[in-house]
Amino acid sequence: MRNWYQMLCGDAASSLSGAEPVSAAMISMRSKRRYGGWCQRLRDTASSLAGMQPVSTVMTSPPYFGKRCYGGDMTNELGKELDDTEYIVNLVRVFNAVPLHPDGSVWVNIGDTRASNGSMRMVPERFAWVMQKHGWHLADVVIWAKVEASDDGSVAGHCMVEPAVKRLNGNGHEYLYRFTRCLPSKAWVDAWSVMVPRLKVKAVRYLPKELMSVESSTNGRCLSNVWRVQLARSLHKHYAPYPLALCERPIAMTCPMNICAKCGFIRTRLVEKQCYDEPSKGRNSRIFGRYTSDTPDNLVETTTRRDAGRHYVARMPVTTGWSECDCKDWERGIVLDPFVGSGTTGEVALKMGRSFIGIDLYSKHSSMAEKRCEATLAWLQSKNLDAGLLEQ
Ligand SMILES: C[S@@+](CC[C@H](N)C(=O)[O-])C[C@H]1O[C@@H](n2cnc3c(N)ncnc32)[C@H](O)[C@@H]1O
Ligand SMILES: [Zn+2]
Repeated sequence: MRNWYQMLCGDAASSLSGAEPVSAAMISMRSKRRYGGWCQRLRDTASSLAGMQPVSTVMTSPPYFGKRCYGGDMTNELGKELDDTEYIVNLVRVFNAVPLHPDGSVWVNIGDTRASNGSMRMVPERFAWVMQKHGWHLADVVIWAKVEASDDGSVAGHCMVEPAVKRLNGNGHEYLYRFTRCLPSKAWVDAWSVMVPRLKVKAVRYLPKELMSVESSTNGRCLSNVWRVQLARSLHKHYAPYPLALCERPIAMTCPMNICAKCGFIRTRLVEKQCYDEPSKGRNSRIFGRYTSDTPDNLVETTTRRDAGRHYVARMPVTTGWSECDCKDWERGIVLDPFVGSGTTGEVALKMGRSFIGIDLYSKHSSMAEKRCEATLAWLQSKNLDAGLLEQ
């Protein structure tokens, strides 16, 4: 197993700025050690990251503007700015400083707060807009639905209750944005790993349940952008952890398991569309298929749906293997969480066979996250589990 993690303590933006020379004490990102974890002063943290290998995925939940207080550092703690515009600028600075792989993605879970007059500040939307002004592409907007009220009056899920006079409880959902530096169509994405199971077709899971809890089906249907995920019930002493399940799809989808250390080749799933017997001939089942131009024997696909007088052929994606380079010196893709908190992202990244780097302003959090990563690796070892081997 070549995966490992690294934990740093310091302000995320300064830690990532890379303004200082690489320190000799830096644990090499090429290290074959399973993990390295430590807490450093801010200056050292910056130098540690200066020579860093690019990360493939950022998955994070920064402090929201004007909500909690995580410690006593009012100068560096994000969210404690006097003004929400300043908060947004500081947040964008962090992501601009990330040494992101050119094909990588940045996922940011962010919620809004209200001004004293009761109106929404629209922080998430304004943050996304400023990111775009800084050259980022907004590739996906996911609604993390904590609770849903249906038109029949039933309610599924739950969220924190708040005093909401003459308005709705605003805690029902949050945003999960995905940004890319390259064009979204050029980013590395394994959309098959997060597909949803097809009706009455045996699902081929991306990873076993113990390594990735959300259902997936690599021969399934395209995942949509509203995810109902239960709130986290964490044993870790941190105010605001997000659920493990929220991190799983972003990591599966945008962090490659294998990148060649010699030539930079990213191992990618090879997929064929195969015909299958669709058990249901109902109207809805037809949406995901293609229509032939002629008879059922003639499987030439049309590019658009044409129902009348045509034969429907149901097809599903089937993984046939993984692409390879000649050198095959595979390293795990790296996930970074610059606001690591209790280390939820680290636990998920390691279980899913990726490497992990976490940063937090406060050492009480970075060491909590470090212990969690250590425990995760020990658990994986005791169970003899390695997600990386499943992609061979
Ligand atoms: C919402 S919490 C993250 C929770 C995390 N997702 C989890 O599941 O435990 C935000 C974290 O950002 C940290 N933080 C605040 N300001 C920071 C800064 N300037 N640089 C790095 N970390 C910061 C806080 O200490 C806190 O742990
Ligand atoms: Zn290679």
